[in-house]
Amino acid sequence: MLTHHAANGCNLNPGDLLGTGTISGPDPEGFGSLLEITRGGAEQLSVPGGEARTFLEDGGEVILSAHRPGGGPRFHRLRRLPRPDPAGAMNATGELVRLTATPPGEALCPLEALADPGARNFVLQIGQARFHGFVVRKGQSVLGYVDRCPHMGLPLARPLDDYLTPCGELIACGWHGALFRPEDGRCLGGPCAGQSLLAWPVAVSEGVIRTA
Ligand code: FES
Repeated sequence: MLTHHAANGCNLNPGDLLGTGTISGPDPEGFGSLLEITRGGAEQLSVPGGEARTFLEDGGEVILSAHRPGGGPRFHRLRRLPRPDPAGAMNATGELVRLTATPPGEALCPLEALADPGARNFVLQIGQARFHGFVVRKGQSVLGYVDRCPHMGLPLARPLDDYLTPCGELIACGWHGALFRPEDGRCLGGPCAGQSLLAWPVAVSEGVIRTA
C-alpha cells in the first residue's frame, strides 16, 4: 500500500493513517484480490502462456486495467520492469504481441489530466496484441511516442510516467540516461545519440487527447 501511494505521487507523511481493503463480490467473477482468487494460495490461477500462479513472482508484471462498455481497445496503467522489448516479439502461437501503431480516434485522457509539462504512459490492448506508448504535454501541445528506447528496446520510464527530466525540458530514459527532444523524439545525448523515438500520432480535440 505504501509503494502504491508513493508510485502515484501521494504526499504520504509519517503518522498518516491508511485504511485498506478490497471490494469483492460473492462469486469468483467478483473476487477483488489475488489472495481471494487463489483462496490464500491454495488454488492455482492460470495466466497467459500456459503458466499458473498462486502469488506474484519476482520479475512479474502487475497490470491495472479498465475498459469502457461498447468495445474498443482496452487501456491499461502498467508498472514497467527492466525487460528487453524487441520489436515484433511473437508469443508461443506466433501472434504479434507488441504493436507500434494504433487505430485513430481513440480517446486516451483529458488534456488537463496531464501536468504542464508532463507525460503519461498508455498501454492499449487490441485483441491479443498490445501497444505501449506515452504522451508528453507542453502547454496545449501533446506529442506521442512508442515506449521503446532505441538503445536497448526498454520502456523508458522506471517509475510509472517518469518520462521527463526534472525541469520537464527533455524526455529521459531511466536506464542509461539517453535524452530525447520532445518535439521530434531525437536523441540529443546518451548511448543512442542521433537515433530517434518512434512517433505515435496523437492529437487534442475538445480537450481530450486521442490517437490520430
Ligand atoms: S535503454 Fe534507454 S538509454 Fe539504455
